[in-house]
Amino acid sequence: MDPVNLAEYEDVARGKLAREAYDYYAGGANDGITLRANVEAYGKLPLYHRVLRDVAARDTSVEVLGERISFPVMVAPTAFHRLACAHGECATARAAARAGTIMVMSTLSNTVIEEVAAVADGPKWFQLYIYKDRGATLDLVRRAEESGCRALVLTVDTALWGRREADVRNNFTLPDGLTVANLAAHAKQNFPAGLAGSGLAAYAAAMLDPSLTWKDLEWLHGQTKLPVVLKGVVHPDDARAAVEHGAAAVIVSNHGGRQLDSSPATIDALPVVAEAVGGKVPVLVDGGVRRGTDVIKALALGARAVLIGRPILWGLAADGEEGAYRVLELLKSEFDLAMALCGARTVGEINRPLVM
Ligand SMILES: Cc1cc2nc3c(=O)[nH]c(=O)nc-3n(C[C@H](O)[C@H](O)[C@H](O)COP(=O)(O)O)c2cc1C
Repeated sequence: MDPVNLAEYEDVARGKLAREAYDYYAGGANDGITLRANVEAYGKLPLYHRVLRDVAARDTSVEVLGERISFPVMVAPTAFHRLACAHGECATARAAARAGTIMVMSTLSNTVIEEVAAVADGPKWFQLYIYKDRGATLDLVRRAEESGCRALVLTVDTALWGRREADVRNNFTLPDGLTVANLAAHAKQNFPAGLAGSGLAAYAAAMLDPSLTWKDLEWLHGQTKLPVVLKGVVHPDDARAAVEHGAAAVIVSNHGGRQLDSSPATIDALPVVAEAVGGKVPVLVDGGVRRGTDVIKALALGARAVLIGRPILWGLAADGEEGAYRVLELLKSEFDLAMALCGARTVGEINRPLVM
């Protein structure tokens, strides 16, 4: 029987994936406090639904950075989709395009930007880290521009790599035949060989630049005309600084609980960030979104849209492109139902009083 919700997709995926791959996808940093909090905090928020508002006709679409998407859920950047299925990131790109939403492509993909961008004509953004090697960083920027990506998503919650203990225990590495494809041009497509512990953590330690400051965001603006979206903000002062430094949007994110364990649940951080941003740029949020009602809660608390990470991976593992597409469509139909039951005909009618 087909899974009827996102949690059931995870159950199917768990049965199909290699243990190391499941642990890598599912895991969080350290004790998993933030990983669990992201999901649980949604469960604690009631929706004060409204009645008798003629919700016979509804429109779930929303605009994000000039792009109209079919509903306010986008695909978060997640690494290594070919651990889940043979077509990997290409399957995800097709699924996102069919569902009418934006895919944020990860730098750490098993398929090069050019191939993912060409496989489906849906809108794509490219997620970037500013590496110690600024030449390699700029090369990725150019390739994203030339491939038609419409925004850069700069991930900034990774000064150092979070300690994901399952990956340490599993000596996590990529199976033969899979690489960090986008970095092959710089001979950085493989993790260091023969080390104990997480090979990805060792790779990240060599690449990431812990000395980054706001000046590096300015540097990036100077290198590209693409809008730069800042991902990984939870503090209102950082949100304000992001706007001052020209970010086109802010993503409230704790990297799905994979970086600082004890970072707040993102739905709890969202209201203070939205208030700090004051409507100057769109605020997006990711982490723990598993139900259509979660999307309503995020929008009521000030988000323009949300992103989902792991559920897409579960869909890919369960049934490739079709699975990822069904995950998005399930969430869309749940969101549409929740809108109706909340008395909202359009996304614009989802407002703060719904969460009191
Ligand atoms: C397996 C996995 C890989 C990820 N890889 C990246 C990445 O390459 N770049 C990035 O900015 N965020 C990455 N993230 C974080 C996601 O973009 C997103 O913040 C997070 O998954 C949202 O939480 P959710 O999985 O609960 O939906 C990754 C998350 C997971 C689970």
